[in-house]
Amino acid sequence: MQTVQHLSVTLHDYHPRTADMREEVLAGLRERQKTLPCKYFYDQRGSQLFDAICELPEYYPTRIELGIMETYAEGIAAALGPRVLLVEPGSGSSLKTRLLLDHLVEPRAYMPVDISRTHLLTAAERLSRLYPELEVLPVCADFSQPFAVPEPKRHAARSIVYFPGSTIGNFEPNAAIALLAQLRRLAGRKGGLLIGVDLRKNRKVLECAYNDAAGVTAAFNLNLLQRINRELRGDFDASRFMHRAVYKEVQGRIEMHLVSRENHSVTVAGENFHFRENEFIVTEYSYKHTLPGFAALAAKAGFAVEQVWTDDRRWFSLQYLSVC
Ligand code: AVJ
Repeated sequence: MQTVQHLSVTLHDYHPRTADMREEVLAGLRERQKTLPCKYFYDQRGSQLFDAICELPEYYPTRIELGIMETYAEGIAAALGPRVLLVEPGSGSSLKTRLLLDHLVEPRAYMPVDISRTHLLTAAERLSRLYPELEVLPVCADFSQPFAVPEPKRHAARSIVYFPGSTIGNFEPNAAIALLAQLRRLAGRKGGLLIGVDLRKNRKVLECAYNDAAGVTAAFNLNLLQRINRELRGDFDASRFMHRAVYKEVQGRIEMHLVSRENHSVTVAGENFHFRENEFIVTEYSYKHTLPGFAALAAKAGFAVEQVWTDDRRWFSLQYLSVC
């Protein structure tokens, strides 16, 4: 570990090994059911498209989660308690993080944790400028792997991990349990987790949220192929693929696919892949949970659900879990 002074913040750098995109992409394309990891959606263009998705009338999660935060800000802050260390996996400088910080009682420090040093420092600097009194403690690490949490200057009553946006929905049940268990280690004894969890609902609402009329989600999905072309010497012809999102009721998940319109071949990093007409690549799962179903996952990871805040329609939930 190395500490580096960077303008107004001190970076704790664990020098995480960044994933090998080439190996992961090739491995996914070699499978009988071709897959691509959804974490690779977020290059510069992908991140812009995701921001645009969050503004779409059909994409309800962002709006509802923010509404829940606004409506219950006081109660949420009371549940987390005073003098906390707020830990956020992923570089948050978002409206949601600021809303939370604005209501917390004497927060001791804010610790964004991210594998990307650039994103991390940009977000940390920004937060530090917005909250000059707050200790901002950026940590460059892979939050899915164990690392030593640095001590804030002033002792904190407990650590609260903040994991909004229903990112947990991208993980299949066993992987979700493993990630939650890692977040529990991050929170430590006496710690807690404030997490956004999208809920099951009418198929039509779900499928519209991932098949918007303006075609932004389609562009977001297809951008993955363009990124592979650029970064891995691919020759995907995006016009030969079609975006599709379907809700699988049994598993309770949205599946995003890229469907080949015709029989054709593609080369990536010198390796050839064949696509039959209508064959598809699975690019993302987005699980929708039930409240008891999510409580069971949380319990397997060593968390107890303490409080759940939802909107009137119960489309989305914000949950406070404590370490058992
Ligand atoms: C960022 C994982 C919450 O699953 O809803 C949005 C990503 N994909 N539209 C989700 C996404 C397509 C999003 N999460």
